[in-house]
Amino acid sequence: MRANVAAVGDDGPRITLIPSVGEYPIYDELLYSMMTADEVRVAAFDRAVRRCAPGRTVVDIGTGAEANWAIAAAESGATRVWAIEALPESAEKARALIAERGFADVITVVTGDSREIELPEKADVCVSETIGAIASSEGVCEIFADAKRRLVRESGIFIPHRVETVAVPFDYAAVLGDTGPAFQAEYATYVDRVFQAVGRPFDLRLCWTEIPHEARLAEPTTVEVLEFGVAEYEYAVHESRVRITRPGRLGGIALGIRLWVSPEDRDPIDSLEQQTSWLPVFVPASVEQQRAVAVGDEVALTFTVGLSSDRIHPDYWLTARSADQSEAEIDWDGTYLGGPEFRSSPFYRELFAPYPASFRGE
Ligand SMILES: C[S@@+](CC[C@H](N)C(=O)[O-])C[C@H]1O[C@@H](n2cnc3c(N)ncnc32)[C@H](O)[C@@H]1O
Repeated sequence: MRANVAAVGDDGPRITLIPSVGEYPIYDELLYSMMTADEVRVAAFDRAVRRCAPGRTVVDIGTGAEANWAIAAAESGATRVWAIEALPESAEKARALIAERGFADVITVVTGDSREIELPEKADVCVSETIGAIASSEGVCEIFADAKRRLVRESGIFIPHRVETVAVPFDYAAVLGDTGPAFQAEYATYVDRVFQAVGRPFDLRLCWTEIPHEARLAEPTTVEVLEFGVAEYEYAVHESRVRITRPGRLGGIALGIRLWVSPEDRDPIDSLEQQTSWLPVFVPASVEQQRAVAVGDEVALTFTVGLSSDRIHPDYWLTARSADQSEAEIDWDGTYLGGPEFRSSPFYRELFAPYPASFRGE
């Protein structure tokens, strides 16, 4: 591996990172099986689908290799199900599994991007688990807006219902001291696969398995709200001010999601509080020396979302600046296909120090 990797059993703490993969077309058996093993996620979607599907027609966008929601819909009495999947190999696996489970007469697997698919009739219910580690990062806004216009009836039901992205400043040095960043060994190979999907190395989005409470410098603040069942999304700039509640060094911003799969869900799935397959995103400080912040200080956050050149996946930019500073502590380019510079900050330079400059995507 050509980036820093923490071997399993490495001595001493490391900031062990996982690349954010859900927004790239690199799904494999391991990723699908981890999502199916995520009980919090599966219970919420399964419950919502089984409540809405009986006696109705359903479209499952991004059914994956395991066709979880298409099968739940058929099992609970949907009259017809279309299961759309963009990756041909995953669609083929879904087709075989559906036949094996005896639902081939109810569920039709359609291979392709949902935005290019025509259905013979509009569906009553649309389910899509294309929610990212940053809520919109897997393209759900464009997927649902297109489905609303073309694939779903006027009064159709959308699952999930609502999702927010939240941001919290944190101090990783408080937990990990001066140890450097590294990728978790079992996920390091996905770094190359993301680079190959994009065609070059870049400062890709990073996830951390958990943002410990003792490292959080403030309460989470909402930076993105998505309500599903609308025909257009406005990509926007979200400005907020965060008041520091714990002294420390501003090492980065964590981004998480709060997801209400069904309008009946009182409490959301919260990726900063629960261990799920949506990992918190780790946005590192851009400055060499992490700045000290005290209780009561204000940090101004600017979270900008735009549509990337592939017209489905968003680009993100995030800046964080303490009130008394002229230079932003965090100035992050989280664009889908990567910013102009590889190793753009001290953190990324350290993480990718062993990565050869000659990488050409082979
Ligand atoms: C996060 S996985 C979810 C798989 C499965 N629905 C589940 O929840 O276990 C998202 C899936 O959506 C597919 N996908 C993403 N965008 C799509 C699109 N526009 N049209 C069809 N499939 C899409 C991906 O290839 C991937 O298999």
